[in-house]
Amino acid sequence: MGWLVSLGLAWVLSFSMVCSVSGIGANWGTQASHPLPPATVVRMLRENGIQKVKLFDADYGALRALGRTGIEVMVGIPNDMLASFAGSVKAAERWVSKNVSTHITSSNVNIRYVAVGNEPFLKTYNDSFITTTYPALQNVQSALIRAGLSSQVKVTVPLNADVYASSTGLPSGGDFRADIQQLMIQIVKFLSDNGGSFTVNIYPFISLYTDANFPVEYAFFDGNASPIVDGSATYYNMFDANYDTLVWALQKNGFGNLAIIVGEIGWPTDGDRNANLVYAQRFNQGFMSHISGGKGTPMRPGPIDAYLFSLIDEDAKSIEPGNFERHWGIFGYDGKPKYLFNLGTTNSNGLIPARGVNYLEPKWCLLKPSANLTGDQMAPSVSYACSRGDCTSLGYGTSCGNLDAEGNISYAFNSYYQINNQLDSACKFSGLSMITRTNPSVGTCRFNTMIQPYYGSAGRLHGYLGNVFGPSLSLIVLLLMIL
Ligand SMILES: *[C@@H]1O[C@H](CO)[C@@H](O)[C@H](O)[C@H]1NC(C)=O
Ligand SMILES: *[C@@H]1O[C@H](CO)[C@@H](O)[C@H](O)[C@H]1NC(C)=O
Ligand SMILES: *[C@@H]1O[C@H](CO)[C@@H](O)[C@H](O)[C@H]1NC(C)=O
Ligand SMILES: *[C@@H]1O[C@H](CO)[C@@H](O)[C@H](O)[C@H]1NC(C)=O
Repeated sequence: MGWLVSLGLAWVLSFSMVCSVSGIGANWGTQASHPLPPATVVRMLRENGIQKVKLFDADYGALRALGRTGIEVMVGIPNDMLASFAGSVKAAERWVSKNVSTHITSSNVNIRYVAVGNEPFLKTYNDSFITTTYPALQNVQSALIRAGLSSQVKVTVPLNADVYASSTGLPSGGDFRADIQQLMIQIVKFLSDNGGSFTVNIYPFISLYTDANFPVEYAFFDGNASPIVDGSATYYNMFDANYDTLVWALQKNGFGNLAIIVGEIGWPTDGDRNANLVYAQRFNQGFMSHISGGKGTPMRPGPIDAYLFSLIDEDAKSIEPGNFERHWGIFGYDGKPKYLFNLGTTNSNGLIPARGVNYLEPKWCLLKPSANLTGDQMAPSVSYACSRGDCTSLGYGTSCGNLDAEGNISYAFNSYYQINNQLDSACKFSGLSMITRTNPSVGTCRFNTMIQPYYGSAGRLHGYLGNVFGPSLSLIVLLLMIL
């Protein structure tokens, strides 16, 4: 009897938990030169009513801060670990033990998913993860079973939307990409057998970025695009059509009921002519309204489970995909909301900023007015500053696209100076630069001062400085840590 009652109670509790976390999720990436302290981010999540987060690894500080909050967590396994887990169930068990079990047991982190890899079948990866993803998925699932966690923690693989395509251009023509079709069917069957979900990242922005002829209105949710008619279904936006192409692909292969998670969806605010505050606001708010009624898509009526990409800007991300890559956040690097965005949770006047954020001093590094613009040291200084700082807000159609040549150089110098914590030695540039206390920001172009570095997880900070700022600064940090 007691057993029955407690089982019933557990069911009621888990049921109410499922209901309470049906809202929007967010991707929390940490590839920033100056990440906000995890506790600050978690407080921001709670104050904004964001009840689900997706991580790209198993960052210790982030997971600890998420403990005892009830926030649902998807923990990630980076692609470069797939080979090791594919080859060894023991390695997968060690990962589950250290990065899942410990956090659940010791700080009650509500881990619900493990994301095995991240878009491993992207064409740009040249098949690097084709043979390892599925065995790694199987071994991680075995490890979860061995740890007694498989009913609470489910596996998934976040995939790029290019794992499926339509031969007809209509959703009903959807099927898995020919070169990986058998592999996809194996993975989908495995997910289905183990109560997992299909996670897909959908990006109308990328379609617009890569295809000059893409109809802009079709990226948004205002219903202004010429609709696409597919049998009895009519599509007014790319999101629905893309999602339903997946639904058709699943259905055609016998998995029409597999749950779908939209692992990433969003719009960047800088670094490209289509990446700006107006479009990002329009897309993200449009998406929220689109899914808010729970009506779903023509092929899959019902609630849509989605994680916004992303929570906070990351100024250390690779810009290989494009300069927009560092500007996906609904919050800036300092936890300030970028535009009016209503999540429909706590505050109808927009997002609530991070609290207690400390900035460096209000000072900036600029080009000296007397500097010789055509001198020999100019070009190498700028390229040095941009390669180690962040110049992705410069260029056609960006927030600082209207600067003149001098403004560009100053922007580059300042970025390097701020990323290096305003060290005097980071504003030298062969005598071409100077420090000022007058904010040089103009119009949409913000010359930022950085936030104070967070030393809470010194191990990671040290590693980061070692990679990006060269040995001298990491030596200083090391010395500071020793002293
Ligand atoms: C736990 O996760 C971290 C971060 O992704 C990783 O560096 C570490 O190797 C993992 N630990 C084990 C035992 O696999
Ligand atoms: C993929 O192949 C192309 C062409 O051979 C090469 O340029 C690129 O660096 C490769 N990318 C990766 C991630 O291996
Ligand atoms: C600027 O540098 C160029 C290249 O070294 C030189 O030819 C030019 O005379 C310099 N201009 C001034 C005003 O010093
Ligand atoms: C400023 O820098 C951007 C990016 O490097 C470049 O595209 C642009 O032409 C520069 N503008 C001027 C006026 O030099």
